[in-house]
Amino acid sequence: MSVIQVHDKKFQPYINAVELQQRIRELAAEISKDLQGERPLFIAILNGSFMFAADVFKYLTIEAEISFIKLVSYKGTKSTGNVVTSIGLDEDLYGRTVVILEDIVDTGKTLSQFLPQLEHQQPKKLVIAALLTKPEALQYKIPIDYLGFSVPNKFLLGYGLDYDGLGRNLPEIYQLVE
Ligand code: IMP
Repeated sequence: MSVIQVHDKKFQPYINAVELQQRIRELAAEISKDLQGERPLFIAILNGSFMFAADVFKYLTIEAEISFIKLVSYKGTKSTGNVVTSIGLDEDLYGRTVVILEDIVDTGKTLSQFLPQLEHQQPKKLVIAALLTKPEALQYKIPIDYLGFSVPNKFLLGYGLDYDGLGRNLPEIYQLVE
């Protein structure tokens, strides 16, 4: 791994593919142990979480379902500011154990707006698995039940994360060179 250029910016290696896979195996093992017999529904939030979701899901050793949603934010017509709504969630969450799969919790704004919509459907249990979080950037309290890595407040690229559309295909994570 070496420094790469994407659009106008340079990125340096930060978490290699072996470390990523190892940590994700550990998370999947923990989730499998904790949710044994619950047949959880995993909800992966697109676009960024597609690689993380695929890897977590294939390392699970329990019966589970998965569904993919996209969050769209738009300006509310009233004084509510941004409203986040999902497209693609067909499943009924009532009484189910639900695991949200998110690539990165940055400010936490997206999840803080979206979680109440899921809770409204009265799942039996709602847990969050996030590959990354940036504690220094957090503005909303998000209870992350399964966390891959806690990282500094610097822009990351790769393994699903993009910079202006590019870099999602990289099997490892890079950090912006400032
Ligand atoms: P939040 O609402 O601020 O928590 O934003 C979460 C979303 O912002 C993530 O799902 C990512 O899509 C995007 N994001 C946050 N930090 C980064 C980063 O360092 N690189 C790429 N995308 C990021």
